[in-house]
Amino acid sequence: MADVPQDILSEIASLERLFTVDTEKLKEITEQFIDELHQGLKGEGNIPMNPTWVMNFPDGEETGSFLALDMGGTNLRVCEITLTDEKGEFDIVQSKYRMPEELKHGTAEELWDYTADCIEQFIEYHHEDERDNLDTIPLGFTFSYPATQEHIDNGVLQRWTKGWAVEGVEGEDVVPQLEKALKERNLPVTVAALINDTTGTLIASAYTDQSMRIGCIFGTGHNGAYLETCGNIPKLKHMNLPDDMHMVINCEYGAFNSKGQHPVLPKTQYDVMIDETSPRPGQQAYEKMTSGLYLGEIFRLAMLDLHDNKKILLADQDLKAFRTPFCLDASFLSFIEEDPFENLSETQDMLNDKYGIKAARPELELLRRLAELIGTRSARLCACGIAAICKMKGFDSCHVGADGSVFNKYPHFKQRNAKALREILDWQKGKKDPVVVSSSEDGSGVGAALIAALTVKRIKAGNK
Ligand code: GLC
Repeated sequence: MADVPQDILSEIASLERLFTVDTEKLKEITEQFIDELHQGLKGEGNIPMNPTWVMNFPDGEETGSFLALDMGGTNLRVCEITLTDEKGEFDIVQSKYRMPEELKHGTAEELWDYTADCIEQFIEYHHEDERDNLDTIPLGFTFSYPATQEHIDNGVLQRWTKGWAVEGVEGEDVVPQLEKALKERNLPVTVAALINDTTGTLIASAYTDQSMRIGCIFGTGHNGAYLETCGNIPKLKHMNLPDDMHMVINCEYGAFNSKGQHPVLPKTQYDVMIDETSPRPGQQAYEKMTSGLYLGEIFRLAMLDLHDNKKILLADQDLKAFRTPFCLDASFLSFIEEDPFENLSETQDMLNDKYGIKAARPELELLRRLAELIGTRSARLCACGIAAICKMKGFDSCHVGADGSVFNKYPHFKQRNAKALREILDWQKGKKDPVVVSSSEDGSGVGAALIAALTVKRIKAGNK
């Protein structure tokens, strides 16, 4: 960076101090994380640690056809999955529907009507002419928000996350709300299981890998699930379940460190602004620093600060194209990080063609470093949740199934995350990685179908 002016170099250095999370800090965060996971199992603190009533892993003998509805943060997807007689094999057909932005802030009725319309379209398209003769199809509903469940086929929404704020759903059981809309359309579908995307990811990965212990989503939101024994879940004590009975816990650990006596998250002024202007201030502190929904916004706020206040970036240019909150998503950062550093010409062209901005080489370097710092901080902080579960459970080595746009598409995320995990877990050079995070099977589709199949099997055996 020989020809980069001194003021830009010192700004880069100060951004590095702001966004870098060193090994010691990662370890400190992980220790606090373990504490909050324990608190959650007692029904206290920030992390909900929701029992999911998924009590075992599939054995590969599951068969039948199931629908899966995936209501994530960005799209709505309907799938039909046929688990075949061939152990561990399945067929899948699916359709994706756009989730209109206004629905995320509308009413419950609008949300469920739209959802049921998508399912109706799917059935009409894939089962033309047979709709009236179809047997009832069990649906695995992947509802990727924190829900309190007393059974596998219900779920009261605790609170919306990921910027959603649909009226009339928080505090309500979402299953009857969806079923009412399905019934109004006479659709031959019943909700067999309500699942979280992390639970689906864990189950779908465990279907083909016996060493799988944790399911994680690094996408619009960030969260993890693992298998616990009921004896370790004090908040379920009153139910007198056998101590050795298994239960998947959907941690909802995006809520880590949101409030309380021991704030450990290295928040910048940009993280504070995101929280304060979000529909749910004071919630999902960890998720707001790590997940895909927020990476572009952190970048945007830092970029505007460098322009408006520090007057060091694009001083003579109008940044009006960047004034709308959340106008940049994580793919903007991915794009910059993917551009070969030698000339950064794609970034230069993109800024010019799309935003009418002319950036000089030193400015491009500053933007590139900013993207790297935000992407790296996310990947490193994301290692703390996984390490905390591993340490709490005493897993010396295990596999973690991961899904989500950040994990699958963000450049270098996997390597940065793996490196941070090694640092936290004191990995010795030359040894095999103790904890390996890898891309999982489609948890929200196949995982949901498998859980629906496990539920149907359990009900047939006489246990709900
Ligand atoms: C948010 C949701 C959680 C989900 C995660 C990933 O954290 O609250 O339920 O698993 O996003 O989609």
